[in-house]
Amino acid sequence: MMDQRLPNEMTNSHILVQDFDYLEPASVDEAIKLMASYGKNAKLMAGGTHLLTMLKMERDEPTAIISLNCVSGFNSIVVDDKGGLTIGAGATIYDIRSHPYIQANYPALSEACASFGSTQIQIMGTLGGNLCNGSPASDTVPALLIYEAQLVLKSASGERRLPLAEFLLGPGKTALKENEVLTAVVLSAALKGASSAFLKVSRVAADLAKASIAVLLVRDGAKVVTSRIACGSVAPTVMRSKKAEAALESKLFSPESLTVVAKVVSEEVSPIDDVRSTAWYRRQLMVAMVTDALNLAWERSDKKVPASKLGIEKPKAAQPIIRHNIKAGEVQDVVLKINGRKRQLRVASNELLLNVLRDQLGLTGAKYGCGLGECGACTVLMDGKAALSCLVLASAAEGHEIVTIEGLQTPNGELDPLQQDFVEEAAFQCGYCTPGFIMTAKSMLKDLPKPNEDQIRDYLKGNRCRCTGYAAIMRAVIKSVQRQ
Ligand SMILES: Cc1cc2nc3c(=O)[nH]c(=O)nc-3n(C[C@H](O)[C@H](O)[C@H](O)COP(=O)(O)OP(=O)(O)OC[C@H]3O[C@@H](n4cnc5c(N)ncnc54)[C@H](O)[C@@H]3O)c2cc1C
Ligand code: FES
Ligand code: FES
Repeated sequence: MMDQRLPNEMTNSHILVQDFDYLEPASVDEAIKLMASYGKNAKLMAGGTHLLTMLKMERDEPTAIISLNCVSGFNSIVVDDKGGLTIGAGATIYDIRSHPYIQANYPALSEACASFGSTQIQIMGTLGGNLCNGSPASDTVPALLIYEAQLVLKSASGERRLPLAEFLLGPGKTALKENEVLTAVVLSAALKGASSAFLKVSRVAADLAKASIAVLLVRDGAKVVTSRIACGSVAPTVMRSKKAEAALESKLFSPESLTVVAKVVSEEVSPIDDVRSTAWYRRQLMVAMVTDALNLAWERSDKKVPASKLGIEKPKAAQPIIRHNIKAGEVQDVVLKINGRKRQLRVASNELLLNVLRDQLGLTGAKYGCGLGECGACTVLMDGKAALSCLVLASAAEGHEIVTIEGLQTPNGELDPLQQDFVEEAAFQCGYCTPGFIMTAKSMLKDLPKPNEDQIRDYLKGNRCRCTGYAAIMRAVIKSVQRQ
């Protein structure tokens, strides 16, 4: 079927046409055994934000999807005795962004995660998935390159460590071997006296980078002792600009030295024309971005804060999750907890939560929009956090608390105060995007105690209103924030 498709032929992004076995191993070893038994056609899945969009665009047709979501401890973030960090491959982009130790000691990584497409993608997408899809536009890779991250990779023949720089081979290509799992990313303790920064330019806030940059400086008075510069979206892989680093080291930090470095970076990159930008523009961007990022890093001094001073919560014990093993073409009984009620359903491996909510349960508040994670119309709460139901397999939702817009009203039919604010501020026109906006805002009200206007806009950046009613939506959300 897929080979008959024309390159730009539209697919039906509301369903998964492929049929696959869906498996949820409890350990990495079990996942490795399953991969070996299925051979090349099995695909690992973490958050699914990349894999499921590839399936929806019919660019992949695995016979089995092996989910890593039930692997215990896969999402942990642990500070070691020497002040270094081990981030489990299953840690979400949002957890990394919000981690106080990462914000204080590896700010470029925290900033890179904050720049990600949308809050929902940050909440669902994982670090492992971001590295293993091998994208030259990955936001975490430039930051991890300047901190010289090492990857821990596990297969049946044992464990190996690889510097991230050696993992990246080309667009969509990595050094991940067949039947190998990325289990963790290791960062050494932050360098003494180092400061770092990340910048990204994209068409709109909720988009992949036209270009990105991460820099790290260690200074001695007015002189640069160490400089690391990594650029994204301007070469076949995210790359360190080694010539530019050499041009800055042992020099005084001055406008003249920055002019030289900016020229060297723009000559070292090899950008292309694509839907997001042109090669010419990307090269010009590099000149401005490297200058801005280096100035930013120079002006700030990364605080090296010990974990003991930050009151970091101990990693939560994994919650008991119901594990699934559904064969292609078969259906399985699942019990989904939706709006506080247990609902018994029969679902196939390729059924999506959005379809089940709408078609089996008649909960039509969550809307079909793009089907590809880009509009936020399908947003529901999963364990209190905004999730895109068009990119969640229905069976994987078992064991989680799902809330849709229908679940916000009180038992006697009164609207939630946030819904009431939308009514009072006339924050809707056709209303198609409204449930998605309300559910994302609901997630924000729980997550951020008193967000300012910029934080609200940032949190809602993945929700699109085709009627462009943004001003009224902002008024309604601000009103709810002020009432908190
Ligand atoms: C609307 C939208 C916006 C996006 N915006 C951004 C953005 O701004 N910046 C950005 O960098 N990316 C962005 N992405 C891409 C994607 O969401 C991220 O790369 C995300 O981190 C992928 O993580 P995941 O857990 O969802 O990966 P998945 O989809 O689960 O997996 C991705 C790939 O990695 C493999 N894989 C996953 N985990 C492992 C592992 N532990 N070991 C081995 N292989 C593994 C899978 O087999 C698959 O091939 C966006 C995607 C969408 C749909
Ligand atoms: S329909 Fe899910 S994000 Fe657009
Ligand atoms: S009110 Fe029509 S899409 Fe937002």
